[in-house]
Amino acid sequence: MKLTLTHLLILLFFFGFVVTSSSCDDDKGPGTDLPPIDSTVKTLKDITNYPVGAALSMSKLKNTTIYRNVVKAEFNTITAENAMKMVNLSPSMSQYKWDDADYLMNFAEENNMRIHGHCLVWHNSVPTWVTNYGGDKEAWKKLLRNYITTVVGRYKGRIASWDVVNEALLDNGTPRPTIWLTKIGWEYVSLAFQYAHEADPDAVLFYNDYGQEYSKVKLAAINDTVMNLVKRGVPIHGIGLQMHTNINQSAQNMIDAITATAQTGLIVHVSELDIALNRDKKPEYQVSPADLTTQKSRYRSIAAAMRQLPAAQNWGITTWGVGDSDSWLKSNPDFPLLFDTQYKPKMCYYGFHEAFGVN
Ligand code: XIL
Repeated sequence: MKLTLTHLLILLFFFGFVVTSSSCDDDKGPGTDLPPIDSTVKTLKDITNYPVGAALSMSKLKNTTIYRNVVKAEFNTITAENAMKMVNLSPSMSQYKWDDADYLMNFAEENNMRIHGHCLVWHNSVPTWVTNYGGDKEAWKKLLRNYITTVVGRYKGRIASWDVVNEALLDNGTPRPTIWLTKIGWEYVSLAFQYAHEADPDAVLFYNDYGQEYSKVKLAAINDTVMNLVKRGVPIHGIGLQMHTNINQSAQNMIDAITATAQTGLIVHVSELDIALNRDKKPEYQVSPADLTTQKSRYRSIAAAMRQLPAAQNWGITTWGVGDSDSWLKSNPDFPLLFDTQYKPKMCYYGFHEAFGVN
């Protein structure tokens, strides 16, 4: 066939179109709303009978379109991985930095998602100005009250729930030595819940910790400690199980952690779920099909255990990141999340589908 000028122009037009439209698929920022995955696959929020979500990175949410699209398609609850921690919200005395937290709040509201606030009091997120603070016990209580009242008050009626105190117990069940314990005493835990409750009486307040699946001692210590506080009238409504776990942990231990926590009668949240493959952090670790199969099976067990809980007690599952390249464990190296580095669903994603009998 002889190529005429018209043919050439048509060809050029199509070539240009293909190049431009495929370049829209990269992740230069929000704008395109292409479905992130095969649209015949039912998304997580569609199949679960409880909220399902992820901890979000602000830079990825702002700059990576595919990330944003996966979050919108798959999840109905979100948590700030870091943006609502004290070091980020309160960099210096009497100064607050709300930009990222506000951005997340607006994103959640635009997309009809719930926000789970994380976290008000945590020994690993204490700003330098607080560490250096010289006041007496009463002044420290006032500092804690001001901080909690300001943060919870700002989002009153908008943030559904808060991790009020995070990781206050050691594995042997005794109080973790933290600056709050030193300056205020164990009473800091009750006070934090009381202040949060006063600032937003409708917010659901959690005690959040890790280790329930690997230590029966810690599991019992967390539940007993929280129930003692509840009996004394401290406004704690739920217990968060972080569940940073790995494929070498037995499914039964994971299930026991969830069911024993539910037996307190409080609300249960699997709050920071990731299932590591490379528990021993071997630099040379290579992913194997067998490990991915175990990972899927563990996700299925947790998703199924949560399915058994009554709705009133079920705050759902939050994974600690979206794709493997977001994970706080990625440099171990590890691949503990539901989506791969390209945000494609991994084998373990379908563990949720199996738990709900969905193909
Ligand atoms: C981690 C974040 O994932 C990291 O990006 C950050 O550097 C440190 O904190 N338990 C918690 C979370 O409650 O807040 C922690 O998140 C992981 C352990």
